[in-house]
Amino acid sequence: MSGSRAFAPATIGNVICGFDVFGLALEGPGDEVEARLRDEPGVVISAVHGDRGRLPTEASQNVAGMAANALLADCGMENVGIELEVWKGLPISGGMGGSAASAVAAVVATDALLQTNLSPQRLLRCASEGERGPKGDTHPDNIAPALCGGIVMVRPEEPTVAIPLPVPAGLSVALVHPELELETKRMRGVLPDALPLRDAVGQWADCSALVVGLYEEDWDLIGRALVDRVAEPHRRSFIPGFDAVRAAGLGAGALGAGLSGSGPSMFALCRSIADAETVAGAMAAAFAGAGIESTDVHVSGVGRLGSHVIEPPA
Ligand code: HSE
Repeated sequence: MSGSRAFAPATIGNVICGFDVFGLALEGPGDEVEARLRDEPGVVISAVHGDRGRLPTEASQNVAGMAANALLADCGMENVGIELEVWKGLPISGGMGGSAASAVAAVVATDALLQTNLSPQRLLRCASEGERGPKGDTHPDNIAPALCGGIVMVRPEEPTVAIPLPVPAGLSVALVHPELELETKRMRGVLPDALPLRDAVGQWADCSALVVGLYEEDWDLIGRALVDRVAEPHRRSFIPGFDAVRAAGLGAGALGAGLSGSGPSMFALCRSIADAETVAGAMAAAFAGAGIESTDVHVSGVGRLGSHVIEPPA
């Protein structure tokens, strides 16, 4: 039976200064999910491709299955049967928003299949269920840009809303994915519960500065805002060569550089694609200097298009 297929892009969570608040979409890589009707109620996953057999195919354990189940519950359609097939284009535990892309593509494909036409806010809430952590917390800073595209900020209170931010002309991303895996759950576990007041003040000043910098197209302010006092101090030691990679990016002309989400990927924001090409090369070389191969080196603008329905390949 024919189904509905959706693509959702890779994303960068936190954008350095806004832990769990800012996220941006990349152009190019992403995950795809196809949703089809089945006779039995509930969600099943018929196959996951591109994960070398590593992801669970039990719907209650897989972010795509959890997100589609949340959509059925949200619509009061628990008696409907959905079969999902997932194509992973993004690495597992790579810091490129792979879980979010699968969850978002699953809800967008299911929404299209069932013609439920949910609002972005409801799709965001359902997709976030796929990423709910063990303490019941969600962190939709990858989900929101995977759904909506662009650079967004999410307000974590219920109801979660994604607020789009402007993307200055030329703003480009260099992202280097080293041959490492870091599970977000584990990387959240290394964070302290409390932040010294002085760091909190500095951090909300930087968040505000990034927003103003994006609105004003003020490259200097954007660069100065890209500071992380919250997560980076506790996570950088898990990435061999972290300081050298960042220094290489800044030395090659980046506005700022740091962890993509919870890592291990590192990224830099740049004034132009040409700058981002140079910066990505310098960062990959610095990883190599630390003895770490880079499995993906990605250069693009900010992806304007979030998740969308696509035609299955012929
Ligand atoms: N903001 C999350 C974190 C990653 O840094 O733990 C993606 O949601």
